[in-house]
Amino acid sequence: MYKVKLHARGQQFDYSCLATVTSLEAARDQFIPIPTGCKRGGCGMCKVKVLEGEYIQDIIRSHEALSDAELDNGYALACCMVPKSDMTIMTVEDYIKQEKLESTIG
Ligand code: FES
Repeated sequence: MYKVKLHARGQQFDYSCLATVTSLEAARDQFIPIPTGCKRGGCGMCKVKVLEGEYIQDIIRSHEALSDAELDNGYALACCMVPKSDMTIMTVEDYIKQEKLESTIG
């Protein structure tokens, strides 16, 4: 069982996730609001930025939902990833907001 910190909607949610369950499924099972669409790697709605931790990203995915460049830059699909360690992830929406905020401050 791993600990996952999810930053979504400007809040932090802490939950547990088995190594055999996707981070999206574990969040939804615990009523944590995480963007969800197809749950099959096709739409990209569940895309997250992985800030810390190790994971396995299922290679079966749409390249429109998650490109190779995004994969290389630490993005993942929460519906297709299982943790290999404790993790900190952030929805893409929150990550973009944070980046914009930091660029206006810095
Ligand atoms: S919910 Fe559609 S790609 Fe994850």
